[in-house]
Amino acid sequence: SGSAPAPLAAPAAAVAAAETGRLTILFGSQTGNSQKAAGIVAEAARRRGLAPTVRDMNDYPPRDLKTEQLLLVVVSTQGEGDPPIAAEELHQFLLSTRAPKLPELQYAVLALGDKSYLQYCQTGFEFDQRLAELGGRRLAERLDCDVAFADETRQWAEQVLSRIAEWQPAPAPVATGAAVMASVGGSYAPEPAALPAAVEYNARHPFAAELLEKIQLNGRGSTRETYHLEFSLADSGLTYEPGDALLVQPRNRPTLVQEVLEAARLTAAAPVRLDAEELDLTTALTERLELSVLTRDVLERYAAVAPQHAELQEILADKPNLGTFLYGRDVADLLTEFPVDLSGQQLAAVLRPLPARAYSIASSLAAHPEEVHLTVGAVRYATNGRAKHGTCSGYQADHLAVGEHARVWVDRNEYFKLPPDAATDLIMVGPGTGVAPFRAFVEERAETGAAGRNWLLFGNPHFTTDFLYQTEWQQHLKRGTLNRLDLAFSRDQAAKIYVQQRLLEQSRRVYDQLENGAYFYVCGDKTRMAHDVQQALLRIIQQESGHDADYAAEYLRQLKKARRFLEDVY
Ligand code: 2AM
Repeated sequence: SGSAPAPLAAPAAAVAAAETGRLTILFGSQTGNSQKAAGIVAEAARRRGLAPTVRDMNDYPPRDLKTEQLLLVVVSTQGEGDPPIAAEELHQFLLSTRAPKLPELQYAVLALGDKSYLQYCQTGFEFDQRLAELGGRRLAERLDCDVAFADETRQWAEQVLSRIAEWQPAPAPVATGAAVMASVGGSYAPEPAALPAAVEYNARHPFAAELLEKIQLNGRGSTRETYHLEFSLADSGLTYEPGDALLVQPRNRPTLVQEVLEAARLTAAAPVRLDAEELDLTTALTERLELSVLTRDVLERYAAVAPQHAELQEILADKPNLGTFLYGRDVADLLTEFPVDLSGQQLAAVLRPLPARAYSIASSLAAHPEEVHLTVGAVRYATNGRAKHGTCSGYQADHLAVGEHARVWVDRNEYFKLPPDAATDLIMVGPGTGVAPFRAFVEERAETGAAGRNWLLFGNPHFTTDFLYQTEWQQHLKRGTLNRLDLAFSRDQAAKIYVQQRLLEQSRRVYDQLENGAYFYVCGDKTRMAHDVQQALLRIIQQESGHDADYAAEYLRQLKKARRFLEDVY
């Protein structure tokens, strides 16, 4: 992830490439972030007078690699180190023995990831390694980016592009917008939809949205604690589409901040500098630094300032068990178990910035002008003998009161969208809080009078306490804006019933609708539910098509490639 200057690539080929302007930006995106980052890099290139071709790995014939001269790869990593579906084919080809030598290639890799996963940026790492093995030369070191990638991406782009510019004979005229589009004809992939020009909100410039309403959706005695929150977007100019997410900047809970201060034996008013800003430690710990989630890089920095705790090095080296160690502990646990004398400033330097959390938006703007609704499940557990609370769900459940403001902005989800054709059928699998985006979908389709059939499969522990948005679904059913609702209340009977069982019971209907062009959406739990739903879908395809497991796997892969099987899972 360094930004140290890379060894200079052999200039001859690079000069030729720079002269002809053959710069390709190739992205592999699952939720749209890599596409956005590719857009940022492309924009920076255009400002320098280059005419980049932006291509989606999803429609990129692997053999085209041989024709590339200057290639910037932007790729994310999914879950446990896997490439996004859109990148699978190219990734597989590249890692195989069929991959050609690429002696002409100058390249650089921008890897997107999420530091809370151990296999952080693994796919980007693999692209970078393999392109080098095949003879490609690095224009710059790979950059590994955490969830907030925009600023780092811009810096990285400047670094890479200035390296390319060194070989460019004369400064090219700066072309922008339409001129550039015209000069390269059809070679552009569609750019991410821009926000309406007026206002852009982001981490640095969030919108302070007033909380208008907070309703507990679960009945008394439920094992779940789910909130429906309605925020005002009045006078913000902020818009979104169904499928988009809302980023909410949380604050750490006062009790946790207190525990960290005590464990670190530091005083609340100790001054710290963060991003050239003077803050007191309490404010920094409350608003700016992650306290609930421990990541490897935090542990590495902590171990470096706590050399007396040699066992931390062993824990870091013990890869298979590192996840378990990190998962069960927060910053207060770490400071208590491995005490060390740090100044407030040192502590702040060890910790990572407190990132905003993304929530699938649960409302349609057409149905609720100037509002955005969320469905938030409060995360509560106990580890290491202490009660733990999800940072952002806890903030919204316990601290944010009606009338107060939360700092928010919209995260576009380019792919988890309604189908372009309003006549297309939807199959929506959304147990638990996974139902959120489907409330937005159904509201939007009701407002716009879409002709396609809408089928929702919902599950939760109990009918009486956990039927989220029950009356709304029943009204939609009555009005015909929801055509089918299948329910799986897992704990209302002796044996668990899950949404995938309902799918299997409706095997023929699922397959017929898919054959008829339906889109299949899954939202909610990633680790178990989404996996099991996919397995069920494979069984359905195999059974109903009369073909074998390989056929079903290929059928599903094609659905994914066509972006008709879409997941928003967490
Ligand atoms: P459970 O907690 O009773 O096991 C929303 O969380 C719903 O998803 C709950 O009813 C939950 O059931 C259920 N669920 C848990 N594991 C699941 C899985 N692997 N597949 C589908 N649903 C699951």
